[in-house]
Amino acid sequence: MSARHFLSLMDCTPAELHGLVRRAIELKDLRRQGVLYEPLKGRILGMIFEKASTRTRLSFEAGMIQLGGQAIFLSPRDTQLGRGEPLSDSAIVMSRMLDAVMIRTFAHSTLTEFAAYSSVPVINGLSDDLHPCQLMADMQTFQEARGSIAGKTVAWIGDGNNMCNSYLEAAVQFDFQIRVACPAGFEPKSEFIALAGDRLQIVRDPREAVAGAHLVSTDVWASMGQEEEAQQRAELFRPYQVSRALLDQAAHDVIFLHCLPAHRGEEISHDLLDDPRSLAWDQAENRMHVQKALLEFLVMHAQQA
Ligand code: CP
Ligand code: NVA
Repeated sequence: MSARHFLSLMDCTPAELHGLVRRAIELKDLRRQGVLYEPLKGRILGMIFEKASTRTRLSFEAGMIQLGGQAIFLSPRDTQLGRGEPLSDSAIVMSRMLDAVMIRTFAHSTLTEFAAYSSVPVINGLSDDLHPCQLMADMQTFQEARGSIAGKTVAWIGDGNNMCNSYLEAAVQFDFQIRVACPAGFEPKSEFIALAGDRLQIVRDPREAVAGAHLVSTDVWASMGQEEEAQQRAELFRPYQVSRALLDQAAHDVIFLHCLPAHRGEEISHDLLDDPRSLAWDQAENRMHVQKALLEFLVMHAQQA
Protein backbone atom coordinates (compact mmCIF):
# COMPACT_ATOMS: atom_id res chain seq x y z
CA MET A 1 0.00 0.00 0.00
CA SER A 2 2.82 2.39 -0.83
CA ALA A 3 0.99 4.42 -3.48
CA ARG A 4 0.94 8.21 -3.15
CA HIS A 5 -2.54 9.69 -3.28
CA PHE A 6 -3.74 13.19 -4.15
CA LEU A 7 -6.87 13.78 -2.11
CA SER A 8 -5.87 17.24 -0.94
CA LEU A 9 -3.14 19.81 -1.62
CA MET A 10 -1.75 18.81 1.79
CA ASP A 11 -0.78 15.38 0.37
CA CYS A 12 2.20 17.01 -1.35
CA THR A 13 4.97 19.25 -0.09
CA PRO A 14 5.09 22.86 -1.33
CA ALA A 15 8.19 21.91 -3.38
CA GLU A 16 6.30 19.05 -5.04
CA LEU A 17 3.34 21.31 -5.84
CA HIS A 18 5.62 23.95 -7.36
CA GLY A 19 7.34 21.17 -9.33
CA LEU A 20 3.96 20.03 -10.69
CA VAL A 21 3.09 23.56 -11.83
CA ARG A 22 6.49 23.90 -13.54
CA ARG A 23 6.04 20.50 -15.20
CA ALA A 24 2.51 21.42 -16.34
CA ILE A 25 3.92 24.49 -18.11
CA GLU A 26 6.59 22.30 -19.78
CA LEU A 27 4.03 19.70 -20.88
CA LYS A 28 1.80 22.47 -22.27
CA ASP A 29 4.74 23.76 -24.27
CA LEU A 30 5.62 20.28 -25.58
CA ARG A 31 2.06 19.84 -26.79
CA ARG A 32 2.12 23.28 -28.47
CA GLN A 33 5.27 22.16 -30.31
CA GLY A 34 3.51 18.98 -31.43
CA VAL A 35 5.96 16.71 -29.59
CA LEU A 36 4.58 13.26 -28.85
CA TYR A 37 5.31 12.31 -25.22
CA GLU A 38 3.86 8.98 -24.11
CA PRO A 39 5.39 7.87 -20.80
CA LEU A 40 2.13 6.21 -19.68
CA LYS A 41 1.82 3.82 -22.64
CA GLY A 42 -0.17 0.79 -21.50
CA ARG A 43 -1.30 2.55 -18.31
CA ILE A 44 -4.98 2.86 -17.39
CA LEU A 45 -6.80 5.42 -15.27
CA GLY A 46 -10.20 4.46 -13.83
CA MET A 47 -12.56 7.41 -13.35
CA ILE A 48 -15.49 7.07 -10.94
CA PHE A 49 -18.01 9.89 -11.30
CA GLU A 50 -20.81 10.13 -8.72
CA LYS A 51 -21.50 13.70 -9.88
CA ALA A 52 -21.70 15.34 -13.30
CA SER A 53 -18.62 16.76 -15.02
CA THR A 54 -17.44 18.29 -18.28
CA ARG A 55 -13.93 19.58 -17.60
CA THR A 56 -12.75 16.96 -15.12
CA ARG A 57 -13.78 14.01 -17.26
CA LEU A 58 -12.47 15.51 -20.47
CA SER A 59 -9.18 16.77 -19.06
CA PHE A 60 -8.33 13.45 -17.39
CA GLU A 61 -9.41 11.40 -20.39
CA ALA A 62 -7.68 13.60 -22.99
CA GLY A 63 -4.63 13.87 -20.73
CA MET A 64 -4.28 10.09 -20.35
CA ILE A 65 -4.62 9.60 -24.13
CA GLN A 66 -1.97 12.26 -24.78
CA LEU A 67 0.39 10.53 -22.32
CA GLY A 68 -0.04 7.28 -24.27
CA GLY A 69 -2.44 5.65 -21.81
CA GLN A 70 -6.19 5.23 -21.59
CA ALA A 71 -9.00 6.17 -19.23
CA ILE A 72 -12.11 4.19 -18.34
CA PHE A 73 -15.26 6.02 -17.22
CA LEU A 74 -17.12 4.25 -14.39
CA SER A 75 -20.56 5.37 -13.32
CA PRO A 76 -21.98 4.10 -10.02
CA ARG A 77 -25.24 3.54 -11.91
CA ASP A 78 -23.65 0.86 -14.07
CA THR A 79 -21.22 -0.70 -11.58
CA GLN A 80 -21.71 -2.68 -8.39
CA LEU A 81 -20.71 0.47 -6.46
CA GLY A 82 -24.28 1.68 -6.93
CA ARG A 83 -25.67 -1.62 -5.67
CA GLY A 84 -23.93 -1.65 -2.33
CA GLU A 85 -20.64 -3.48 -2.95
CA PRO A 86 -18.35 -2.24 -0.16
CA LEU A 87 -15.99 0.54 -1.18
CA SER A 88 -13.08 -1.41 0.31
CA ASP A 89 -13.76 -4.45 -1.91
CA SER A 90 -14.16 -2.23 -4.96
CA ALA A 91 -10.88 -0.48 -4.21
CA ILE A 92 -8.98 -3.75 -3.87
CA VAL A 93 -10.37 -5.16 -7.11
CA MET A 94 -10.07 -1.96 -9.17
CA SER A 95 -6.52 -1.30 -8.09
CA ARG A 96 -5.48 -4.79 -9.29
CA MET A 97 -6.49 -3.81 -12.83
CA LEU A 98 -5.81 -0.08 -12.98
CA ASP A 99 -2.73 2.13 -12.57
CA ALA A 100 -4.57 5.03 -10.94
CA VAL A 101 -8.13 5.91 -9.93
CA MET A 102 -9.81 9.33 -10.05
CA ILE A 103 -12.97 9.78 -7.97
CA ARG A 104 -15.57 12.58 -8.01
CA THR A 105 -17.87 12.06 -5.08
CA PHE A 106 -19.99 13.59 -2.31
CA ALA A 107 -18.55 12.76 1.16
CA HIS A 108 -14.78 13.24 1.34
CA SER A 109 -14.64 10.06 3.45
CA THR A 110 -15.46 8.05 0.30
CA LEU A 111 -12.08 9.13 -1.05
CA THR A 112 -10.13 8.44 2.13
CA GLU A 113 -11.76 5.03 2.55
CA PHE A 114 -11.13 4.05 -1.06
CA ALA A 115 -7.52 5.25 -0.82
CA ALA A 116 -6.96 3.20 2.35
CA TYR A 117 -7.65 0.01 0.38
CA SER A 118 -6.17 1.02 -2.98
CA SER A 119 -2.72 -0.16 -3.99
CA VAL A 120 -2.61 2.45 -6.79
CA PRO A 121 -2.76 6.27 -6.56
CA VAL A 122 -6.18 7.79 -5.90
CA ILE A 123 -6.91 11.33 -7.14
CA ASN A 124 -9.65 13.62 -5.82
CA GLY A 125 -11.66 14.88 -8.81
CA LEU A 126 -13.89 16.90 -6.40
CA SER A 127 -15.58 16.07 -3.12
CA ASP A 128 -18.01 18.09 -1.00
CA ASP A 129 -14.93 19.32 0.88
CA LEU A 130 -12.17 19.88 -1.67
CA HIS A 131 -11.26 20.32 -5.35
CA PRO A 132 -7.45 20.14 -5.37
CA CYS A 133 -6.96 19.47 -9.12
CA GLN A 134 -8.81 22.70 -9.89
CA LEU A 135 -6.53 24.61 -7.51
CA MET A 136 -3.47 23.27 -9.31
CA ALA A 137 -4.87 24.63 -12.59
CA ASP A 138 -5.59 27.97 -10.88
CA MET A 139 -2.03 28.15 -9.54
CA GLN A 140 -0.61 27.32 -12.98
CA THR A 141 -2.77 30.05 -14.55
CA PHE A 142 -1.59 32.67 -12.04
CA GLN A 143 2.05 31.59 -12.48
CA GLU A 144 1.82 31.89 -16.28
CA ALA A 145 0.11 35.29 -16.18
CA ARG A 146 1.78 37.04 -13.25
CA GLY A 147 4.65 34.86 -11.93
CA SER A 148 4.89 33.71 -8.31
CA ILE A 149 1.78 34.02 -6.16
CA ALA A 150 3.86 34.00 -2.94
CA GLY A 151 3.09 37.07 -0.82
CA LYS A 152 0.12 38.09 -2.98
CA THR A 153 -3.51 38.53 -1.87
CA VAL A 154 -6.40 36.41 -3.12
CA ALA A 155 -10.08 37.34 -2.69
CA TRP A 156 -12.65 34.56 -2.60
CA ILE A 157 -16.18 35.89 -3.05
CA GLY A 158 -19.36 33.93 -2.25
CA ASP A 159 -19.84 30.46 -0.85
CA GLY A 160 -17.28 28.94 1.55
CA ASN A 161 -17.50 25.69 -0.41
CA ASN A 162 -15.15 22.95 -1.66
CA MET A 163 -13.30 25.40 -3.93
CA CYS A 164 -12.93 27.89 -1.09
CA ASN A 165 -11.58 25.18 1.23
CA SER A 166 -9.01 24.23 -1.40
CA TYR A 167 -8.03 27.91 -1.74
CA LEU A 168 -7.34 27.92 2.01
CA GLU A 169 -5.04 24.92 1.59
CA ALA A 170 -3.40 26.64 -1.38
CA ALA A 171 -2.77 29.75 0.75
CA VAL A 172 -0.70 27.58 3.09
CA GLN A 173 1.10 25.59 0.39
CA PHE A 174 1.74 28.45 -2.07
CA ASP A 175 2.25 31.10 0.63
CA PHE A 176 -0.35 33.81 -0.05
CA GLN A 177 -2.93 35.78 1.95
CA ILE A 178 -6.62 35.10 1.38
CA ARG A 179 -9.72 37.18 2.13
CA VAL A 180 -13.05 35.37 2.00
CA ALA A 181 -16.23 37.45 1.64
CA CYS A 182 -19.29 35.32 2.38
CA PRO A 183 -22.70 35.67 4.05
CA ALA A 184 -22.86 34.64 7.73
CA GLY A 185 -23.33 30.89 7.99
CA PHE A 186 -21.57 30.16 4.67
CA GLU A 187 -17.98 30.27 5.91
CA PRO A 188 -15.50 27.56 4.88
CA LYS A 189 -15.29 24.46 7.11
CA SER A 190 -13.68 25.13 10.49
CA GLU A 191 -10.82 22.66 9.94
CA PHE A 192 -9.68 24.65 6.88
CA ILE A 193 -10.09 27.96 8.71
CA ALA A 194 -7.82 26.57 11.42
CA LEU A 195 -5.32 25.33 8.84
CA ALA A 196 -5.10 28.71 7.10
CA GLY A 197 -4.55 30.51 10.43
CA ASP A 198 -3.43 34.11 10.03
CA ARG A 199 -3.26 33.84 6.25
CA LEU A 200 -7.07 34.07 6.26
CA GLN A 201 -9.40 36.97 6.88
CA ILE A 202 -13.19 36.46 6.70
CA VAL A 203 -15.25 39.55 5.89
CA ARG A 204 -18.86 40.21 4.90
CA ASP A 205 -18.30 42.99 2.35
CA PRO A 206 -16.98 41.81 -1.04
CA ARG A 207 -15.44 45.26 -1.68
CA GLU A 208 -13.34 44.88 1.45
CA ALA A 209 -12.14 41.45 0.30
CA VAL A 210 -11.28 42.61 -3.21
CA ALA A 211 -9.45 45.86 -2.26
CA GLY A 212 -5.95 45.59 -3.74
CA ALA A 213 -6.27 41.83 -4.42
CA HIS A 214 -4.13 40.21 -7.13
CA LEU A 215 -6.47 37.29 -7.82
CA VAL A 216 -10.27 37.30 -7.45
CA SER A 217 -12.27 34.10 -7.71
CA THR A 218 -15.77 32.88 -7.12
CA ASP A 219 -17.94 29.83 -7.79
CA VAL A 220 -21.59 28.84 -8.12
CA TRP A 221 -23.84 29.68 -5.16
CA ALA A 222 -25.32 26.17 -5.03
CA SER A 223 -22.87 23.32 -5.54
CA MET A 224 -23.74 19.87 -6.84
CA GLY A 225 -25.90 18.19 -4.22
CA GLN A 226 -27.37 21.54 -3.04
CA GLU A 227 -29.87 21.96 -5.89
CA GLU A 228 -32.82 22.20 -3.49
CA GLU A 229 -31.25 25.18 -1.70
CA ALA A 230 -30.55 27.06 -4.94
CA GLN A 231 -33.42 29.53 -4.74
CA GLN A 232 -32.89 30.42 -1.09
CA ARG A 233 -29.15 30.78 -1.67
CA ALA A 234 -29.70 33.03 -4.71
CA GLU A 235 -31.43 35.58 -2.44
CA LEU A 236 -28.77 35.46 0.25
CA PHE A 237 -25.82 35.63 -2.13
CA ARG A 238 -27.11 38.43 -4.36
CA PRO A 239 -24.74 41.08 -2.87
CA TYR A 240 -21.81 38.76 -3.69
CA GLN A 241 -21.93 38.95 -7.49
CA VAL A 242 -18.50 39.61 -9.04
CA SER A 243 -18.76 42.33 -11.69
CA ARG A 244 -16.34 44.50 -13.67
CA ALA A 245 -17.00 47.32 -11.19
CA LEU A 246 -16.02 45.08 -8.27
CA LEU A 247 -12.81 44.03 -10.06
CA ASP A 248 -11.98 47.74 -10.49
CA GLN A 249 -11.44 47.84 -6.70
CA ALA A 250 -8.68 45.20 -6.94
CA ALA A 251 -5.00 45.62 -7.90
CA HIS A 252 -4.41 47.15 -11.37
CA ASP A 253 -3.02 43.81 -12.60
CA VAL A 254 -5.69 41.58 -10.96
CA ILE A 255 -6.76 38.38 -12.69
CA PHE A 256 -10.17 36.79 -12.33
CA LEU A 257 -10.62 33.02 -12.22
CA HIS A 258 -13.74 30.84 -12.17
CA CYS A 259 -13.52 27.05 -12.07
CA LEU A 260 -16.67 26.82 -14.25
CA PRO A 261 -19.45 26.01 -14.91
CA ALA A 262 -20.50 29.65 -14.42
CA HIS A 263 -23.97 31.07 -13.91
CA ARG A 264 -23.97 34.47 -15.63
CA GLY A 265 -26.26 36.90 -13.82
CA GLU A 266 -25.73 35.08 -10.51
CA GLU A 267 -22.20 34.77 -9.07
CA ILE A 268 -20.75 36.73 -12.04
CA SER A 269 -22.15 39.56 -14.13
CA HIS A 270 -23.13 38.67 -17.72
CA ASP A 271 -20.00 40.30 -19.17
CA LEU A 272 -17.33 39.14 -16.73
CA LEU A 273 -15.92 36.20 -18.69
CA ASP A 274 -15.41 38.58 -21.66
CA ASP A 275 -13.37 41.00 -19.54
CA PRO A 276 -9.63 40.90 -20.37
CA ARG A 277 -8.92 40.37 -16.67
CA SER A 278 -10.72 37.00 -16.77
CA LEU A 279 -8.44 34.04 -17.57
CA ALA A 280 -11.15 31.41 -17.06
CA TRP A 281 -10.60 29.76 -20.47
CA ASP A 282 -6.85 29.34 -19.90
CA GLN A 283 -7.68 28.07 -16.42
CA ALA A 284 -10.03 25.42 -17.87
CA GLU A 285 -7.40 24.28 -20.39
CA ASN A 286 -4.76 24.12 -17.68
CA ARG A 287 -6.75 21.38 -15.91
CA MET A 288 -5.46 19.05 -18.60
CA HIS A 289 -1.83 20.14 -18.47
CA VAL A 290 -1.49 20.11 -14.69
CA GLN A 291 -3.30 16.78 -14.33
CA LYS A 292 -0.92 15.29 -16.91
CA ALA A 293 1.92 16.44 -14.66
CA LEU A 294 0.13 14.91 -11.68
CA LEU A 295 -0.53 11.58 -13.43
CA GLU A 296 3.10 11.40 -14.54
CA PHE A 297 4.25 12.13 -10.98
CA LEU A 298 1.90 9.68 -9.23
CA VAL A 299 2.05 6.77 -11.67
CA MET A 300 5.86 6.96 -12.05
CA HIS A 301 6.22 7.14 -8.26
CA ALA A 302 3.94 4.09 -7.84
CA GLN A 303 6.08 2.22 -10.38
CA GLN A 304 9.28 2.95 -8.42
CA ALA A 305 7.80 2.16 -5.00
N1 CP B 1 -14.30 22.88 -12.85
C1 CP B 1 -14.77 21.61 -12.94
O1 CP B 1 -14.39 20.73 -12.19
O2 CP B 1 -15.66 21.42 -13.95
P1 CP B 1 -16.54 20.11 -14.21
O3 CP B 1 -17.58 20.04 -13.14
O4 CP B 1 -17.11 20.33 -15.58
O5 CP B 1 -15.63 18.90 -14.18
N1 NVA C 1 -18.52 24.05 -6.02
C1 NVA C 1 -18.88 23.43 -7.29
C2 NVA C 1 -17.68 23.21 -8.14
C3 NVA C 1 -17.95 22.62 -9.50
C4 NVA C 1 -16.72 22.38 -10.30
C5 NVA C 1 -19.59 22.12 -7.00
O1 NVA C 1 -19.15 21.38 -6.11
O2 NVA C 1 -20.59 21.83 -7.65
